[in-house]
Amino acid sequence: MLRKCNKLDMNYFLTNPVLMNHTPLLAEIKKTFLPGDEIFFIKAPGRVNLIGEHTDYNMGPVLPCAINKEIVFCIHPTDTAEIRVSNLYERYVNVHFSLKEVIEPFKKGHWGNYIKAGVKGIVDYLKSSAPHRITKWKGCDIIVSSTLPPAAGVSSSSALVVASALTFVEVNRLAISKKKIAEICAGAEHFVGTAGGGMDQAASLLGKENSFLNMEFNPLKIKPIKAPEGIRLVLFSSLIQAEKSGKLRKEYNRRVLECKMGMDAFNRYFKSTMGTAYTDINYIGEIKPENLNTDQGELDRVVGHFLDDLKLTYSIKEFLIKLDMSEQEFKHRYQHVLHGTDSFTEPPDGFKIKSRFKHVYSECRRVNQTVTCLRNNKLADLGLLINQSHDSLSMDYEVSTPEVDNLVNILRENGALGARIMGAGFGGMVLAYSDSSKMDFLIEQTKKKFYDKQNTENQTDLIIPCVTADGAGVL
Ligand code: GLA
Repeated sequence: MLRKCNKLDMNYFLTNPVLMNHTPLLAEIKKTFLPGDEIFFIKAPGRVNLIGEHTDYNMGPVLPCAINKEIVFCIHPTDTAEIRVSNLYERYVNVHFSLKEVIEPFKKGHWGNYIKAGVKGIVDYLKSSAPHRITKWKGCDIIVSSTLPPAAGVSSSSALVVASALTFVEVNRLAISKKKIAEICAGAEHFVGTAGGGMDQAASLLGKENSFLNMEFNPLKIKPIKAPEGIRLVLFSSLIQAEKSGKLRKEYNRRVLECKMGMDAFNRYFKSTMGTAYTDINYIGEIKPENLNTDQGELDRVVGHFLDDLKLTYSIKEFLIKLDMSEQEFKHRYQHVLHGTDSFTEPPDGFKIKSRFKHVYSECRRVNQTVTCLRNNKLADLGLLINQSHDSLSMDYEVSTPEVDNLVNILRENGALGARIMGAGFGGMVLAYSDSSKMDFLIEQTKKKFYDKQNTENQTDLIIPCVTADGAGVL
């Protein structure tokens, strides 16, 4: 809804449940825009993922919720085909680009690439789906405010992509559903250099207060599940920044590749045992009884045999022999898997397809088991599943760090029924689950045993309660 700048005052901010946490925006609005300028606000929340880590790009299920911490854009639509963005936080430089030219990325790691990704995603979608409708794009001036801690595993980057895409849709009055925008944003974020899945963008757009979203991909399907009462979920910072566009990118992309290699090895193994009756499966998340015409017990048994048959690591050469593949075929196939996000290199310790496959296959099972727990309000096993998820992420997927493992152990020893690393990993936040009555004790002990032992002066957002929220939209 458009409002004139001079009609905004502190009262307007303080009476809006989202804007009330973004009051520094008001001064910036008065400084940036003219009194008669028309503006509107968009929010895009971050997400917490209860369980289902590194399953989304394998088309396996996830169980996230949108949270009450978000990015807010204050937007002034203009008649120019320019997008100009400033950020309340000085470390993020101003961004400016034109809609008249092909949108090229800034240098790798630049925060503005997330803004460009959202806009480019929508532009490219319309170019391919409705080229006749494209005449002239409208641009806008944007001020960004955020209550989401960056590089903490709560998807501040995807929230930026979502806010940017939604802004472009609103400014140009396009009719595209939120579900479609979620799918567009998932692909669009590859522009930043990470070959990620679709969980974060869909959670940010389609979140529902008091619900977790049981999500499946390809195509995107979402079933909201009521958040259980009587338990609390709290995020604890590991004090390690996990910048998705930085070092983490290579590690993340490596795992995307290893999973795809694992899937190819699985198909080959099955073809050799079942012959032509077997049809290739594309993703680990699609290895389900119904797709293989079998039951869960039998499937677990054959997947076990397949894993037993794999070595711990493979060089490219060894993998080529195993799959009877040419080097050229190999390069072509796996470069494609990375959506052109990264150059393809052999890790010094080899490709660990066995342990990566094991994590993803077992994590998909854990998501389904968690859904059953929540649906039947049988929460006793929830902590166990959360703990198993962390152990698998730490040992098989190798996305934890010694500091994170230490924090997880402290939480488990002081009353958490479950604790695990959340998001892409390599630092960021740890999610802990406990009875409501025990959470205060857990927080107090963790402060004493973890944070007091480290230099946490001037650090904010160390402990964040997970409060579910509705998804992105115009405020
Ligand atoms: C990041 C990615 C998601 C997902 C998680 C791990 O947040 O953006 O797509 O892969 O890591 O579960």
